[in-house]
Amino acid sequence: MTSEKKTACVIGGTGYVASLLVKLLLEKGYAVNTTARDPDNQKRTSHLIALQDLGDLKIFKADLTDEGSFDAAVAGCDFVFHVATPVHFDSEDPENDMIKPAVNGILNVLKACQRARTVKRVIYTSSAAAVSVNALKGTGLIMDEKDWTDVDYLIKEKPPTWGYIVSKTLAEKAAWKFAEENNIDLITIIPVLMAGNCITPDVASSISLSTSLITGNEFLINGLKGMQMVSGSISMVHVEDVCRAHIFLAQKESASGRYICCVANTSVPELAKFLSKRYPEYKVPTDFGDFPSKAKLILSSKKLVSEGFKFEYGIEEIYDQSVEYLKAKGVLKLKV
Ligand SMILES: NC(=O)c1ccc[n+]([C@@H]2O[C@H](COP(=O)([O-])OP(=O)(O)OC[C@H]3O[C@@H](n4cnc5c(N)ncnc54)[C@H](OP(=O)(O)O)[C@@H]3O)[C@@H](O)[C@H]2O)c1
Repeated sequence: MTSEKKTACVIGGTGYVASLLVKLLLEKGYAVNTTARDPDNQKRTSHLIALQDLGDLKIFKADLTDEGSFDAAVAGCDFVFHVATPVHFDSEDPENDMIKPAVNGILNVLKACQRARTVKRVIYTSSAAAVSVNALKGTGLIMDEKDWTDVDYLIKEKPPTWGYIVSKTLAEKAAWKFAEENNIDLITIIPVLMAGNCITPDVASSISLSTSLITGNEFLINGLKGMQMVSGSISMVHVEDVCRAHIFLAQKESASGRYICCVANTSVPELAKFLSKRYPEYKVPTDFGDFPSKAKLILSSKKLVSEGFKFEYGIEEIYDQSVEYLKAKGVLKLKV
């Protein structure tokens, strides 16, 4: 970085990933603008207000569904990180609850970036959901940045969480189309399931899902199994590595296109075996009957690594830190 202070905007700063990204950017000396739908809601923003002690952080009111609402937050920024997305897994109306706001939201943010004229690069947080969901059968498939989720298959079969998966796929496609047509420097990051630490007031839902085999939450264990069946694997990465990858790719001039961000690929039965051995005190279940013991596919981060990015955390650290975090929150108790 040059000595001149850079300014970054993080869209949706209240969220699990975005709030850690804001923290990392402030620690690196960036001035940060961030957005929240309701900045006056203390329950949603108290962790962001605490981050204001670290540096220059301003919170703006903006909504993905409100076209002009990002202009003030984006004005004067060098980089824009679009992290927000509507998440309503149990929605009965995915089209209006997730698909339309996600697609219109990224377009609204990109239009604000165009109007600002200062934005050098936009970094959009996509998801493995936009890459790996398809009707293919088998094991050991390797998915990379060339692969796209099959939206027609999802709309026909409507597997659990299909609306979220469609929203992430169509939003990323819309982002690429708009960026190409309007000459915007766009990078998309494709993270897999994240865990590790968390600074939001509530435990992030992805930590609860990732640690369900340890906490014994049956509903979420079924969610994890559903994830393997729908997405093809249980693929994981530490949330801090994802945030570091966002900043790395913003700063790396030669970067272009999509980047998968994944450090470990496994299946529910394999993960359970690993967790049972590492944390015997939590009596992790290991008998899954005829549930597939192998993942259908792996997601490759070869492109990100070949760009020079180094992952700091493996699966051991992801779980050690998640367990410590849940213990500190008082939500993880030993089973007797
Ligand atoms: N967590 C994971 O394991 C995972 C894995 C792969 C990809 N991702 C992607 O990473 C990103 C962040 O995920 P997360 O887990 O941090 O999600 P999260 O904690 O649920 O945060 C979602 C954020 O989106 C904002 N949002 C929702 N609807 C909005 C709207 N209409 N207008 C403006 N903001 C809106 C929320 O802001 P308010 O406070 O205003 O409600 C919240 O800050 C998402 O794009 C997600 O698809 C996450």
